[in-house]
Amino acid sequence: MNEFSKFFKKSKSERLGIIKKSTKLTQNELSYIHNQTTNNEFERANKMIENVIGTFSLPLGIATHFTVNNKNYIIPMVVEEPSIVAASSKAAKIANARGGFKARSGNQYSIGQVHIANCGDINKAIKQIVQNKKQILQLANSKTHTLSKINKGAKKISCRKITIDNNILLIVELLVDVGNAMGANITNSMCEAISSYLEKITGGKSILKILSNYSTSRMVTASAIFDKNKIGGSKTVNKIILAYKIAMNDEYRAVTHNKGIMNGIVSVANATCQDTRAIEAAAHAFASRTGRYLPLTNWTKNSNGDLIGVIELPLSVGTIGGVINIHPMAKLCLKILGITSAKTLSCIIASVGLAQNFAALYALVTDGIQKGHMKLHAKNIASAAGIKLENIDMIVSKMIQANDISIQKATSLQKQFCDYT
Ligand code: MEV
Repeated sequence: MNEFSKFFKKSKSERLGIIKKSTKLTQNELSYIHNQTTNNEFERANKMIENVIGTFSLPLGIATHFTVNNKNYIIPMVVEEPSIVAASSKAAKIANARGGFKARSGNQYSIGQVHIANCGDINKAIKQIVQNKKQILQLANSKTHTLSKINKGAKKISCRKITIDNNILLIVELLVDVGNAMGANITNSMCEAISSYLEKITGGKSILKILSNYSTSRMVTASAIFDKNKIGGSKTVNKIILAYKIAMNDEYRAVTHNKGIMNGIVSVANATCQDTRAIEAAAHAFASRTGRYLPLTNWTKNSNGDLIGVIELPLSVGTIGGVINIHPMAKLCLKILGITSAKTLSCIIASVGLAQNFAALYALVTDGIQKGHMKLHAKNIASAAGIKLENIDMIVSKMIQANDISIQKATSLQKQFCDYT
C-alpha cells in the first residue's frame, strides 16, 4: 500500500514518520518541523488546509507614520524581504508633511459568473433572464441570511456574450454586495444555486459557476503629495516622474514597478489573511486593461512643484469570514489596525502600495536600491555564519566597510575580533 494513502487521517507524528522514510530529512530536522507548532496550532492548521505537517512562519513587522484619510495607523506587514517595512514607513513619514494619504474605496461588490452554452436563440435567453431577474436574485439571496439581514447580498444581474469556435456563449453575471467579507464562498454558492434555474429559462447548459477574481466592482484609489523640499527638490521630483514614464513605456520596467507596489500590498494582505493570489491576479489584469501592461500608479507634479502619486486598482479584501475568523494572528493584526471595515482596509492597503512605490522610485533615482538592502543582507549573512547576537552589529559594519559581505568574511572577522574564551 502506498504510504501516503489516507495520509490526511494520520496524526502529526505519523505524518512526520512517513516524511522521514520518504525524504532525506534528519531526525533533528523533523523535530524542528514538529516543534514549530503546538498541538493546538497543528489542529487549527489542519482545519485550514489538507495533509498538514506543520506551519511556516514569516516575520511580522510594523509600518509606522501612516496617516490615511486623516487617521493614524500602525500597519502590520508580513513579508520575508528586507527593507519593505522600513521603506513604507519612511514614505509615510514624508507624505505626512502634506497631509498623508487620501483614499477612497467604492462598492464592495463581488462578481459571480455562470457561463451557459447551447442557449439556441441567445437574445431570447437574455430576455428570459431580464424578465426573471427578481426570481434569480431571490434564489441567489436564499443562500445567505447574514447578508440579506443587513440589506446586502445579490443586487444586480447582467448578461454578456462571447464567441468561442463560432458558438455564442452566454455569461450571466451576478453582482453581490458582500459587505465586510471577501465573499468568495457566498458568491460561488449563489452561482451554483441559480444555475439550474438559468438552464431552465434559457434552455442552455451551464458550464462554469464561479466568482470572477477580476474584482472591478471593488475599486480603490489612494493619493499623496510628497513635498519636493523633503526629497531633494525638483531634480528628484523630475527623476521620479521620468522613472514612472519609463514604466509607462516599457513593460519590462512596468512589471518591476508594479512588483514594488505589490511588496506593500501583499505584506498587509498577508498580515490580515487575505487571498493574495486573487489580489495579484486582479491587479495584473487591471494593469493590462488597455492591452498593454502599465504601471498601477501615476506620478505627476503640482503647480508648487511637489510630487503627486496616485494609485488605482481593484482590491478584494475582507475583515470577516473565512480564515480571518480562524487565524489568531489575522485577528490581532486587524486589532492593531483598529478597523472592522473592509473599505477602510482597502484604503489602507492601497496607501501602503503607493508608499512602497514612492520609496522604491525615490531610492532608485537617488542612492540606488542596494545601499539600504546591504545592511540587512549583511545581518542575514552574519546570522547565517553563526555570529552571536551581541557581535552581529560590529561584524555587519566591518563587512560593509570591507565591501565583502560573505559567510567567509563574517567567520574570519569573528575569529579576529570576537572573544571565545
Ligand atoms: C524590489 O523588491 C522592488 C523594486 O525592484 C521595485 C522597483 O524597482 O520599483 C525596488
